[in-house]
Amino acid sequence: MAQRDFVGKLRLGVNIDHVATVRNARGGDVPDPVRAARLAEAAGADGITAHLREDRRHIGDRDIERLIAGIGVPLNFEMAATGEMQAIALRHRPHAVCLVPERREERTTEGGLDVAGDENRLAHFIAPLAEAGCRVSIFVAADARQIEAAARIGAAVVELHTGAYCDAHAEGRHDARDAELARLREMAALAHRLGLEVHAGHGLAYDTVKPIAAIPEVVELNIGHFLIGEAIFKGLEHAIRHMRALMEAARGTPLPG
Ligand code: PXP
Repeated sequence: MAQRDFVGKLRLGVNIDHVATVRNARGGDVPDPVRAARLAEAAGADGITAHLREDRRHIGDRDIERLIAGIGVPLNFEMAATGEMQAIALRHRPHAVCLVPERREERTTEGGLDVAGDENRLAHFIAPLAEAGCRVSIFVAADARQIEAAARIGAAVVELHTGAYCDAHAEGRHDARDAELARLREMAALAHRLGLEVHAGHGLAYDTVKPIAAIPEVVELNIGHFLIGEAIFKGLEHAIRHMRALMEAARGTPLPG
């Protein structure tokens, strides 16, 4: 199969949201997510991901300004598809904008964006972002309907939601995990055939990263919560280096950098 011949380099984007979660638990300035981003960069992160939520529960506006000014790797700016966020993205012009669904009551991003159900609006929403030079990525479930819609609206990238796969693994539902993994593989191939760059992320940890890193069409993983948690015990640098080593082992090729 032609698409199986494609093996791109695999990048690691480190999501530093939860450094800000800890900071905000007390107010004040520490721990500083921008310091974490610089450390992540030094440890081999290929990009930094930050989600400016509508309720600013972790990353704040000032963090985005400081990240844009203070990091040397691309910023992947995660946001909901709202006018407020579009204006912020157009002001800062980050390397990438990843559109995610957002509900105030959720603890984390649950499920992918319903692109198919909002195709017209989203096509108009992303056009100025793409024109401003941002690579527009859409966070989607492993669902052909959503991936096809993402391609139709002109997105450059889809990020496949790995949460269902990780949850099934954590809960010992191995049949469900393997079925979701098979779907992720199939949908990565479909997205690639449609000309989309393929990323993946959500919930990934040392024990779940390898099968995702081994999917040849996937060229970027975005990982946050687990790495920040592991940093408490081993340090952020160690956690990132170990994660990259697992990705590299699964890929069978050196990672960039
Ligand atoms: N990718 C996207 C689109 C996300 O919304 C998130 C969470 O903010 C992640 C990746 C990282 O997920 P986690 O923090 O569970 O590793």
